[in-house]
Amino acid sequence: MKLRQWTTVAVVAVATVAALNTVPATASRPYDPTAQSLGALGLRHGLHVGTAVNMDALNDAGDPQYRALASSEFTSVTAENVMKWEVLEPTRGTYNWAAADQLVEFAKRNRQSVRGHVLVWHNQLPAWLTAGVADGSISKQELREILRKHITTVVNRYKGKIWQWDVVNEAVSDPWDTPSTLHYKGFWAQNLGPGYIADSFRWARAADPKALLFYNDYNIEAFGSGNPADDKTQFVYDMTKGLRAQGVPIDGVGSQGHLGTQYGNFDTLQVTAALKKFSGLGVATAFTEVDVRSQMTAGVQTGNSEEINPRLQASAANFSVLMKACLAVRSCLSYTVWGFSDRYSWVPDWFDDPPEGLATIYDENYQPKRAYQELKSDLIIAGPPYVLPRITPRPRR
Ligand code: G3I
Repeated sequence: MKLRQWTTVAVVAVATVAALNTVPATASRPYDPTAQSLGALGLRHGLHVGTAVNMDALNDAGDPQYRALASSEFTSVTAENVMKWEVLEPTRGTYNWAAADQLVEFAKRNRQSVRGHVLVWHNQLPAWLTAGVADGSISKQELREILRKHITTVVNRYKGKIWQWDVVNEAVSDPWDTPSTLHYKGFWAQNLGPGYIADSFRWARAADPKALLFYNDYNIEAFGSGNPADDKTQFVYDMTKGLRAQGVPIDGVGSQGHLGTQYGNFDTLQVTAALKKFSGLGVATAFTEVDVRSQMTAGVQTGNSEEINPRLQASAANFSVLMKACLAVRSCLSYTVWGFSDRYSWVPDWFDDPPEGLATIYDENYQPKRAYQELKSDLIIAGPPYVLPRITPRPRR
């Protein structure tokens, strides 16, 4: 190569390096990370920041801000309800894909990944299924076949379009259930025994070789006593270890992250330790349904700032603990909030005695709350050596 060519290469190289080192700027406005979306900031770490999507809100022409934020602020979406069995197959044998298809299309248009939620859960099952089992017209053997068919049908429909599937959701009891010793709970375990869990992962894998297959549960953010009889995190850990040892194609464990400011909660290092321990099994991790609710005392409801401010502050701290732990562990692939605005949160509908709310990162008028700002600053400040790019496992065959 002649000298002049070398000079050209050198000039281009220097210019390129300069461009990489200089933060993007326009003449009038310097680069401002705080002006970036949570999603864009997450991608700096290879982390997807996602949200559950309420399809009624997304389709509400009178509320364009919901759609605007759902598409601009997040790089991953989850169907809050429309991929659940009761919505997909309200009448036996007739699938209604419209709303789920619409979400998948929305995600594609906005270059978002999709977390599929949920294939096997004891809630939001179609009435024909639960009634048929209750009156004996659906036998146990037939039920197993119905489950296999459902998983196969749904996974097949969205083959190649779903990044992570919540294959089995909330299979493990809580210490307040009866009996209090932790056990496999609910409709599926009662009717098919715990073997349905391994079966479900195998059926899902047969239908989509590439999706990451997750077990998803709440109250597994940190380890407790270490005794699986009363420590749900330990129970789920042991279950995952057992499934992996049997060669079951489980690729990830999703920690939902439904927290409340009235509880003790966790510090970042405790949550980090839990994620690391799960990663040690070779699985990915994710926060899949994060929200932090508070009790809506009379003072909160009448706008008393002395009661509201500490709640907003505590909420922000809890959102942030989970985010920092996720950033610190390379297997933690995504951080999904369970709805982004108090306008549509599931919390007030479910917790009404005493009433609870304030659970999301934007208020009812789409004003970002302290929790939003805290998540943003976590994403901005993070970097090497403590925060490194994500490592995604190869889907297990
Ligand atoms: O389908 C009916 C609809 O026809 C009717 O118009 C409407 C009137 O209220 O009710 C609709 O059903 C509601 C459904 O959400 C859709 O809005 C149900 O009553 C209501 O119980 C259901 O709540 C959902 C809940 O799961 C059910 O268990 C919440 O929106 C959803 O956020 C919540 O999500 C779960 C995750 O899937 C799993 N982890 C826990 C999380 C929070 O409970």
